Amino acid sequence: MTTASLSGRKVLLIVGGGIAAYKALELVRLLKKSGAEVMSLLTSAGAEFVTPMSLAALTGHPVRQALFMPEDETAMGHIELSRWADLVVVAPATAGLIAKAANGFADDLASTTLLATDKKVLLAPAMNVRMWLHPAVQANVERLKGFDGFHGVAVVGPDEGEMACGEFGPGRMAEPTAILSAIQGLLAGPDGRPLAGRRAVVTAGPTFEPIDPVRGLTNRSSGKQGYAIATALAELGAEVTLVSGPVAIDAPVGVTRIWVESAREMQAEVQKYLPADIAVMSAAVADWRVDGVASGKIKKAPGGPPSLALIENPDILAGVSKPGKARPKLVVGFAAETSDLEANARAKLSRKGCDWIVGNDVSDDVFGADGNAVTLFTKDGGADVWPRQSKTEVARKLAAKIADHFKA
Ligand code: CTP
Repeated sequence: MTTASLSGRKVLLIVGGGIAAYKALELVRLLKKSGAEVMSLLTSAGAEFVTPMSLAALTGHPVRQALFMPEDETAMGHIELSRWADLVVVAPATAGLIAKAANGFADDLASTTLLATDKKVLLAPAMNVRMWLHPAVQANVERLKGFDGFHGVAVVGPDEGEMACGEFGPGRMAEPTAILSAIQGLLAGPDGRPLAGRRAVVTAGPTFEPIDPVRGLTNRSSGKQGYAIATALAELGAEVTLVSGPVAIDAPVGVTRIWVESAREMQAEVQKYLPADIAVMSAAVADWRVDGVASGKIKKAPGGPPSLALIENPDILAGVSKPGKARPKLVVGFAAETSDLEANARAKLSRKGCDWIVGNDVSDDVFGADGNAVTLFTKDGGADVWPRQSKTEVARKLAAKIADHFKA
């Protein structure tokens, strides 16, 4: 969780109906502790789960519940309320609220406010796993995300786990600390956003190189480290494009994710987003692809298994590092090594022409794990050893170091 202050920032919290509504109370407490001013709006379904009294007591403001209430409207009209906020947060965001927002309904106070606001909206969905996975809900969420550029919709969660209804899967509302982190990322003041105005491109995950329509070559990268780096850079205010190979991670809040499969697709997308200030190439790019991908499924044949001819993939990091107008001011590579970390990482740094390289000992439990031990080698001969810690902490250290670099 970031510790960025929210002092002076205004949050309008819309509490929808669902068992997760009780967590909205903890979110209000955390927001207030971070210095934010919070006004709340409780839907009629939300009021079945938490009382207006609890929300009023925690926020220190009256709770808005209905559209046509003369006393509320004379204090602050609902349109004014939707503009008062720096950020509108919907937690829990029910399937119903999401559907209304995605389709422009304005038949109650919450949906009208969501339509009228000119501020970014953060949704923290919470619902039964089947509901969350229903194509109608997924389509509505995608539709809302697609409105980005208007005022923007970000989504945090839902988490996977056991649900109040006894089922298991994605649908639990993100924890209040994670929602707070997302809010801080979207709202932090200039001190907390030293990378504001900087453009960053990050690669993450494995690449997938097809053999035929059903098979391919790939590797064990989970993408966790790269996604954490994209998140950490965005939290510091950078405008981040994440070019990602196939992984099972949600797009970080406030980050533009581009899906790719092969190394060549990844390279093309990275090039599209240049020039940038920062490039962090953390993807585990497949070194080789199959020469002559079969157009149909390769069948077993009496002559034995087919032999695959491999050809080398382009080196994306080396390409980005090439001197020229489009070269990012700071290029950071990764070196995944199973032995001689320092020698191999330094050789890679000079061979590829990047500025820094994160040396990563992958002989230990790294792939898919939440922890990582790395050493950051710099072109000027520096070496920072970061003992095993969470990939989130490694990412935050790296982002902070990048911010320091630009400050200097
Ligand atoms: N990389 C890349 N394009 C490739 C191969 C690697 O951009 N075709 C990048 C990775 O994203 C990483 C760095 O280069 O930032 C080093 O990747 P790594 O797999 O450690 O090195 P390789 O170049 O593949 O060298 P080797 O396999 O010989 O260790």
